[in-house]
Amino acid sequence: MKIKKATLKDLPAILELEAMLVGNTEDHTDLIKSSITAGECLVALIDGKVVGASILNYTFYYKNWIDLLSVNPEYRRRGIATALIKRMESMCKTPKFFTSTNESNIPAQKTYEASGFVRSGYIENLDEGDPEIIYFKRIGGTGRGGRR
Ligand SMILES: CC(C)(COP(=O)(O)OP(=O)(O)OC[C@H]1O[C@@H](n2cnc3c(N)ncnc32)[C@H](O)[C@@H]1OP(=O)(O)O)[C@@H](O)C(=O)NCCC(=O)NCCS
Repeated sequence: MKIKKATLKDLPAILELEAMLVGNTEDHTDLIKSSITAGECLVALIDGKVVGASILNYTFYYKNWIDLLSVNPEYRRRGIATALIKRMESMCKTPKFFTSTNESNIPAQKTYEASGFVRSGYIENLDEGDPEIIYFKRIGGTGRGGRR
């Protein structure tokens, strides 16, 4: 498996992956495109095929934030999400690393916990009856500065 920064050439494959997972990608297209341009989108490749994707940005209180993490269902439980998280961690500029998932999303909770994230509160009223659980990990700073 190879992890690399996505380029616009990867956009169709990432949208295909998102379509497989969430159906309509209209909401996601602009986010994915701008994240690629900003160098914030990663892809995981197996035999040249995009099997996973992630976005690290600073839209959550200016903190390092996983905005998207997706793995093709046929390639799960092979450490792909873990590898994407590890690479994102290496891109973090400051020690506070956050993400979130629904209370109902046990695979995602297990994945974040396996990578050392701990629960850090929750937000109600995003999805009806399915609170958003915030996850946090304190990581070593890279000394690259920034306020995030
Ligand atoms: C959550 C998701 C990204 C995990 O991807 P993955 O590549 O299968 O995860 P990994 O293989 O790195 O799993 C790492 C560890 O997390 C835990 N884990 C992952 N999926 C699990 C599951 N379904 N059940 C129990 N534990 C799980 C395990 O401890 C696993 O290690 P192991 O396989 O050695 O036991 C994937 O299921 C997915 O794309 N889901 C849909 C989108 C999503 O929910 N995104 C994240 C939040 S919005």
